[in-house]
Amino acid sequence: MEKIIVSRSIPQPFKDQLEAIGQVEMWDESLIPMPRNQFLEAIKDATACLITLSEKIDSEVIKAAPKLKVIANMAVGFDNIDVPLVNSKGITVTNTPDVLTETTAELGFTLMLTVARRIVEAEKYVQNGEWQSWGPYLFAGKDLSNANVGIYGMGEIGKAFARRLKGFDTKIMYHNRSRNKDTEKALGALYVPFDTLLEHSDFIICTAPLTEETRNKFNAQAFEKMKNDAIFINIGRGAVVDEEALVYALQEGQIAACGLDVLREEPIDMAHPLLSMDNAVIVPHIGSASVTTRNRMIQLCVDNITLVLNNQYAKTPVNLK
Ligand code: GLV
Repeated sequence: MEKIIVSRSIPQPFKDQLEAIGQVEMWDESLIPMPRNQFLEAIKDATACLITLSEKIDSEVIKAAPKLKVIANMAVGFDNIDVPLVNSKGITVTNTPDVLTETTAELGFTLMLTVARRIVEAEKYVQNGEWQSWGPYLFAGKDLSNANVGIYGMGEIGKAFARRLKGFDTKIMYHNRSRNKDTEKALGALYVPFDTLLEHSDFIICTAPLTEETRNKFNAQAFEKMKNDAIFINIGRGAVVDEEALVYALQEGQIAACGLDVLREEPIDMAHPLLSMDNAVIVPHIGSASVTTRNRMIQLCVDNITLVLNNQYAKTPVNLK
């Protein structure tokens, strides 16, 4: 008998599909993660689990789960999972690439324009009853048209972001682990060293996953190299940024503003200095959050679990290169 753990509440039609293949134990909350001790208990006799980024899959979980065959992570990123360890036990790990690409790029674009045009500050100003008249420089922001835009991480989301820039007559630079000449041709993007990206970009968009190579990539030295009026957007992973260095850069005017969908600690500590800064816009990790895309992500997890439990290859296994 298969047993499938689902660590957050998902709509009934998806649960029904899982129930057709085994017993389902679902945590019935959508905003609160399943407590770790309950997860460790539930996983003991589970053959599959559908999890979110909140569940850390480490040696403690793997030790507790001798029957586990598949972990379906409802995210494209999988830094919450010790993939080499899990794979060494013959357990399949799957993620949700592609289905969320366009939605996540749209959130990145939304954040970029929101920060550039100071929308959050302006809206608060109206709500607070401070609007008295039209002012020549009232909430004057920054143009995207004709700007140099630097993309750090030219994977699928980076490319989707670059495609959206085309209508704004921007110059696109990118830096990535590897160079992709087809992308350069298709998108008119220029491959540059990381320092050049920092020094010449008016907007920097980080779409990079968290790896040992990208951890703390945006540190004090990086912010120091950026233009003083640069806008930094992060839709990759929080730990790619040294947040203390970011706070310092914003306070000291090394850069102008930032927009973050991802933080080192999620949810953010309400005492975090970024929360008191007008030039930092923070949203709660909602890159892929459109209803259609979230449905597609859950369906892909369900498909992957179904395939593996039927002794077939998963659609989107995570294979570390
Ligand atoms: C979200 O951050 C994801 O990796 O899908």
